[in-house]
Amino acid sequence: MTKKMSIQTKYSIIFFATLVLVVSAFAAGLGTLRDEVLRNEAEAIADQVISFRAWVAGSGMVWVHKLVPGFPDYLARKDDGHGGYFYGKNPALATRELSVIANKTSRRATFLVTSDDYRQPANKPDAFELQAIKTFKGNPDLKFTQTYEQGIYRYARPIFVKKGCLKCHGNPEDAPPEVISKYGDKKAFGYKVGDIRGIVSVKIPSIGWQRLLPILTNPIVIALVVLAFVINFIFTQRFIIRRLTRLTDDANAIARGKLDTTLDYTAPDKSNDEIDHAYHAVNLLKKSLIIVLKRSRGK
Ligand code: HEC
Repeated sequence: MTKKMSIQTKYSIIFFATLVLVVSAFAAGLGTLRDEVLRNEAEAIADQVISFRAWVAGSGMVWVHKLVPGFPDYLARKDDGHGGYFYGKNPALATRELSVIANKTSRRATFLVTSDDYRQPANKPDAFELQAIKTFKGNPDLKFTQTYEQGIYRYARPIFVKKGCLKCHGNPEDAPPEVISKYGDKKAFGYKVGDIRGIVSVKIPSIGWQRLLPILTNPIVIALVVLAFVINFIFTQRFIIRRLTRLTDDANAIARGKLDTTLDYTAPDKSNDEIDHAYHAVNLLKKSLIIVLKRSRGK
């Protein structure tokens, strides 16, 4: 027959079970924190993209004097008066060129402005981006969507059609001839104000467990857990086990007839400690025993 466990053993098991639960809770908290950190990072990038677009839109177009290799597109062209040209880049075009440069040089995040009805083949959406556009169309109040894909955090924010967009995305008849000649009159037309025109899509490498785990196992965390265990161990030893052992010894002594054994405890009217209550009960038992013995001797 196996013996029942000691309080210390039971207590240690409970301590470690609690520890596992607390660590799990902490890990879940870290997961949420990671979502938050990545989303903040993605939001900061999306904000910058939108500011840049707004700046170009506010200026009408940005005019460049030279078409550098890799960036041959422009929407309009003007004589510079010296035999050369200025080339006009509209907001979407300028943003795409920024994204090409950023995606080449960035150490972390990349972005793309894309749409389910895209004019520019380089802006073709992938599965996540198509799904995000669909989701925003079904729920125009949604501020963003996010997911993890093979170690990559993905974020999308909707772009809505405003009045100024209609010139090039409303009725093709209103569109500048350069837009029609370059992209045709089929793609990305027919929008109304408030429609979802597309999304800003941001990709960031996720923060993996190999980077999160050291947060849980850093020396300070380990030292604090060990300290918690030691405090619990000392408490159970001093205030429970040692006192129960003494009570057992005292009760045994009384049982063997040592009726002058003094029980050292705080009276129940001054203590809520259950062990004091147990001491008190044994003390009452001792007093009853003395009375019974006196009576039986007196007979
Ligand atoms: C001057 C004409 C013009 C105006 C005004 C304009 N766009 Fe565009 N838009 C274009 C062109 C041209 C492209 C394709 C750019 C490229 O080749 O990358 C485009 C592309 C886009 C794209 C990328 C998807 C695609 O079709 O390739 C989005 C999103 C977009 N526009 C949104 C808007 C929004 C929102 C507004 C209003 C705030 C707006 N546009 C105003 C001309 C315009």
